[in-house]
Amino acid sequence: MKLSTLAVVGSQWGDEGKGKITDFLAERADVIVRYQGGPNAGHTVVVGKDIFKLHHLPSGVLYPGKICILGNGMVLDPVTLCSELNNLKERGVVPDKLFISDRVHLIMPYHKKLDELEEKVRSGNKIGTTMRGIGPAYVDKIFRLGLRSGDVQNENELREKLAFILQMKNELFAKLYDVQGFTMEDLEEEYLPAARMLLPYLADTPVLLAEEMEKGSKVLFEGAQGTMLDIDHGTYPYVTSSSPVSGGACIGAGVAPFQIGTVLGITKAYTTRVGGGPFPTELKDHIGDMIREKGKEYGTTTGRPRRIGWLDGVALRHACRINGFYYLAITLFDVLSGLETIKVATAYQYGSQLLEHFPANLNILEKCNPVYMELNGWEEDISEAKNLQALPPQARNYISFLEELLRVKIALVSVGPRRDQTIVLNDKFY
Ligand code: GDP
Ligand code: IMO
Ligand code: MG
Repeated sequence: MKLSTLAVVGSQWGDEGKGKITDFLAERADVIVRYQGGPNAGHTVVVGKDIFKLHHLPSGVLYPGKICILGNGMVLDPVTLCSELNNLKERGVVPDKLFISDRVHLIMPYHKKLDELEEKVRSGNKIGTTMRGIGPAYVDKIFRLGLRSGDVQNENELREKLAFILQMKNELFAKLYDVQGFTMEDLEEEYLPAARMLLPYLADTPVLLAEEMEKGSKVLFEGAQGTMLDIDHGTYPYVTSSSPVSGGACIGAGVAPFQIGTVLGITKAYTTRVGGGPFPTELKDHIGDMIREKGKEYGTTTGRPRRIGWLDGVALRHACRINGFYYLAITLFDVLSGLETIKVATAYQYGSQLLEHFPANLNILEKCNPVYMELNGWEEDISEAKNLQALPPQARNYISFLEELLRVKIALVSVGPRRDQTIVLNDKFY
């Protein structure tokens, strides 16, 4: 069996342009699968003058005829997903081959409420979550108290399960937070009807994927968030509650490790982070402000201004190792035009030690000072460049510097949000 599969994975703190690159590659794909996360994701796809912001749906949904899968490793908010589908429908996009795993966990209103209450309790140490109920929904999954999409198929079983869940949750709301809990009637207002609307899409998605791969279909696994937000490999506890790394695709889509094929890391030409937590290369000056405005760095899901920093080679080496990136796609490259010099952290200075590996301990990380390599910038607007030769020499130098620093080849360079603003250096990888 010849495999043709590719995982698209964020290498930083999310918002690297995964949506744009997945959409770009999806033209050639047959199947596009989301394997973790939920509506905390905001993936922007620009098609001509149209801008689509996707939260649950894979960024392949804009091409008719592609199979789109919401994998078991995700957490779905039925109300948000229904409105996402309705919004797309109003704009003439109807996913005709959408499949939702019957094992996927549902985000319920009590999860969102808990997200809010838990953030309040943390006071000075807020995670800065998207408030979409992601963490509490994954907690219930691991605690074996989750409601799965397949549970909605049988009304009696659903009510029985929910009665127990509500009893447990309401105790928590009353005793820990002293707030009103939820009744079955509350859930019947919006959430359960929305969950029932999704029933026609439910499928045993790993079986479907196996059949497609057997036929030789091209499969794209689309990661959400990024490696530095990974529950194990990110800046814990300032992370999301899932595994965005390439290994997460096996569990979250239900495929074997050898079926992941190639792994493409998506790397912004600088760094952004939204929410709390350490950010060693953060820029709190006019350069950061300039990049934020030029790159329109405001959250797709929450509208929050993103924190900006230089590219962090230490964090990226960590991401390359954990994900096994075969290639990188460099995105938002055009945003760097106009900078006199561009900095890239190559190591961290921690007291008298030079650290080359990203430390697990946040107390150590906070005391680290990035050691920067300074590269010459360029003035020219590169947003219409169609090939490497059309880029100024300093921009080409930046690309080869990154390849050397990370020891990974760069296959794609994105110079704008549109599909045609993509320089292809290697198209043999997929
Ligand atoms: P994702 O979450 O990784 O899919 O990324 P987001 O969609 O949250 O954020 C990336 C933003 O950058 C979106 O607004 C994209 O339209 C935009 N974008 C993607 N690639 C490029 C690029 O090469 N240049 C510019 N200027 N914008 C880009
Ligand atoms: P995409 O897929 C950037 C961040 C939040 C917060 C932390 C935990 O668009 O790249 P959560 O709501 O997941 O419990 O929040 O993770 N976060 C993201 N940051 N891009 C995302 O998704 C994110 N999804 C979550 O800001 O710091
Ligand atoms: Mg995003």
